[in-house]
Amino acid sequence: MLRPYGRPMAALSVSFSLNGSPVTVDVDPSARLLDTLRYQLGLTGTKEGCGEGECGACTVYLDGLPVNSCLIPTYQVRGQRVATVESLDPGALEPFERCGATQCGACTPGVVMTAWWIREHPELLGTHSIRELMAGNLCRCTGYDGIVDSVAEALRETGSGRRET
Ligand code: FES
Ligand code: FES
Repeated sequence: MLRPYGRPMAALSVSFSLNGSPVTVDVDPSARLLDTLRYQLGLTGTKEGCGEGECGACTVYLDGLPVNSCLIPTYQVRGQRVATVESLDPGALEPFERCGATQCGACTPGVVMTAWWIREHPELLGTHSIRELMAGNLCRCTGYDGIVDSVAEALRETGSGRRET
């Protein structure tokens, strides 16, 4: 770990909960959570799209809320709970398959993370539509109808959902 001009940079030791288990990593102070997850901790389910907080491909949960891990310095998650797509029930993908919401490998993890969060918080549909809640997850190729349908279906399966689309 070198700064420009070859001066060593001190590593920070950061402990947090990752998918329910405690972890401690030594990171560069500028390390992004996205990179720490993928390259230090081997959880490659979280993807990088834009790298600047626009696309949602890097969505993880931080203390239960979806966030863009490309914008979060790893040291800021010290003592907090981080959950990645690897923590989800594989059944999270079933509604997507049924509704033909077949997205690419870059956007799917983030889409599924946000969709699962909506499924777990149906009260949000009292004030926001699914499209509004999914607005932070961008797709540049296939479109959004299948995603919205799959979230609505997942909500129907759990018996929730008032203002669905
Ligand atoms: S890679 Fe993080 S929002 Fe696009
Ligand atoms: S960006 Fe993944 S399907 Fe469009």
